[in-house]
Formats: sequence, C-alpha cells, structure tokens
Amino acid sequence: MDKISFATGSLGNVPVLEKVLKQSIAEVDPKLLLGYSDPSGLPELRKQIADLYDSGIAEENIMITSSVQQALGIVFDYLAQEIKKEVFVQEPAYFGILRIFRKHQDAKITPFDDFGTIEDRLRTSESGVVYLTSNFHNPTGKTLSLERKKKLAKNAEESGLIIVEDNPHDFLYYNGERPDNIFELTPGNTIYVSGFSKILGPGLRVGYVIADKKTIAKLKSEKISQDIFTSTLGQQVCVNALRQTEYLEDLRRYFRSKKDLALSCFEEQFGAEEDFVWSKPKGGIFILGQFSDNIDGAKIAAIARDKYGLALEKDKYTYSDCKSRNTTRINFVQNSDDILREGIMRLYQAFNEVKNGS
Ligand SMILES: Cc1ncc(COP(=O)(O)O)c(C=O)c1O
Repeated sequence: MDKISFATGSLGNVPVLEKVLKQSIAEVDPKLLLGYSDPSGLPELRKQIADLYDSGIAEENIMITSSVQQALGIVFDYLAQEIKKEVFVQEPAYFGILRIFRKHQDAKITPFDDFGTIEDRLRTSESGVVYLTSNFHNPTGKTLSLERKKKLAKNAEESGLIIVEDNPHDFLYYNGERPDNIFELTPGNTIYVSGFSKILGPGLRVGYVIADKKTIAKLKSEKISQDIFTSTLGQQVCVNALRQTEYLEDLRRYFRSKKDLALSCFEEQFGAEEDFVWSKPKGGIFILGQFSDNIDGAKIAAIARDKYGLALEKDKYTYSDCKSRNTTRINFVQNSDDILREGIMRLYQAFNEVKNGS
C-alpha cells in the first residue's frame, strides 16, 4: 500500500508553480550572485510587494527575510521586552511561533481562541502585543470577520497595542476577492509578516515584514546580525515570478479545485457522522478536522499510520501547553486528486475502526 501524507505544509506537485519556477530560475543572471546585497532586500522585489497590497505602502516599509519563520524570529526579538509583560497568542497556532516563544522563556503568554474573551483585557492590559493570523488560519482555515478586524484595529489605535499579523496565505483566496487584513486597517499599529512559501514554494525561503519605517530600521539591524541579507537567488526568482502575477490566478483556481474536492470527499465519507466535523475554509491550504471527545484521535492517527499508511499531523505542537485537542489538520493541496480522495477514505476507515471498536 502506497503511503499518503496529509501532514506538513508542502505544496506537492503543482504544475502552474513548476512552470513559473522553471522560467523564473532560468532567467536569473548568475552575475547577481557574485556580490553582497542590501539587507532590506532587492528594491524591485520590495516595490512589487508594495504593489500587491495596493494600500499606500512604500519600499521603505518592507524588509525581505529568509522565510516567514525568520521574520517572526526577528520581530519577537525586537519585541522581547514587551512580551515579558504579556503577549496574547491566538491558539491553535502555527507551530513555529510557539518554538519562538519557547526561546523567550520570560515571555508571559496568554493564549486565546476567541477574541470576545480577551477584548476587555486587551483594553486594560499593561502590555500590548497580540499575535494572530487573520486570514485562512493555519491550522483552522478560519478568517476573522471584517467587523472583528476593525474592532481590533480601533482597539490598537486607542491603546497603542502592537499587532503582529502572520498572514502567509492572504493571496490564496478562493471566493474572488482578497480579504482585508488588519495591517491595511491600522498600518501604524501592525507588524505584518508574509512570504512566498505558499504562493511560490517553501524551498525558496523568502519572506517579508511590512511595518512603519522606524520599526523596519530596528528589524534591519537584527537581520544584519543574523544573516546580513536574504539569498539573492531566492529573491530574484520571486522578482521574476511576480513579473507575471497572472500565475496567481491559475494557482488559486488549482488550489480551489483541491479544496472543493476535499470538502466533497469529507461530506461523502463523514456526512452522516456526528463524531467528526471539519472546517470549510475559503482560502489557504488547510482544513481542520475535529473528533468528538468520545473518539480517541491519537488512536485514529496510530491506526491510520500503521494499518492504512496515512500520515496525520499531530495537533499538540499547535498549543503552548503541548496538549492535544483531538484535532487533525489536513493539507488538501499536496496530493493528486486520486490520492486525496483515497486518503480521506483511509481516514474514514481508521475513524470507523476506533468508533466501532473493531
Ligand atoms: C501562519 C504561518 N506562519 C509562518 C509560516 C512559516 O512560513 P515559512 O515557510 O516562510 O517560514 C507558516 C507555514 O506554514 C504559517 O502557516
């Protein structure tokens, strides 16, 4: 039996990306790689990124990083004193951010999953840092409503709150329009991070930070300490790809069809089940499945792996207390249609065995 994986954030075989990457790599002038480069990043790339957002930001508001993970590391080193007081962290969270907080042992982490529960505290807290993914969240797939984003933006403007918005899936929207992000609502109070891992390829390791110029200057100093500048090869590949931004439309069409297929397979397999529910994202690459309390998700994962060759993601690394919440994250883009369908069938078989004790 061939192995199938629903784990990791890899993109799999994506014909549109393979074509764009092949072309963009071939167009890189080797001479570019012979010199040192600007720690802030290639000016053309920063200009292209500014144009993507269409919200009055300039090159000077952008710093290129070697991945979103590096951007987050640099941002939280910069905010180290602030987060000692308190940092509000949306959970479940992208696992890499929790690794960064583990490094900041004296950070006071307040996890939340519902803004309603922390709204009052945000107004009165001495600290002022919130970390969140507002669109197509990893792992839940959820997007914050515009009303909630506006409330947070207003709150930040009144109290001086700093919002760290980690949104690498913003351009993977499947309902026709890119949702607003908080950064665009309150640029002065937001440090926004994103990158190319989900729209071109994680192997490039290119990310970026958008913030006010003063903050960017501070972050740049830290970037120089870490690696001086981001690979010119990776950056130039991004430049070449963004010269043909139409590819993003093809990419969205391709990923949207994967998402629709995954949702219809879940409906087909689990539609009559009360003990498994799943999110219905409007963008991004993840669906989150939730098992009922009476169903042992860890047992399902073990049977899926050992008997059905299906690798499922562990959810405990997405919580700061490292405890499972009986969920599993499904990456719906990385397999061919047939394998995606087969994988959801295997998940159902493992689920069924645990539920019926066979
Ligand atoms: C919310 C979020 N932040 C950051 C990252 C890391 O991105 P990168 O591969 O560019 O480090 C991911 C990757 O899945 C993510 O989902």
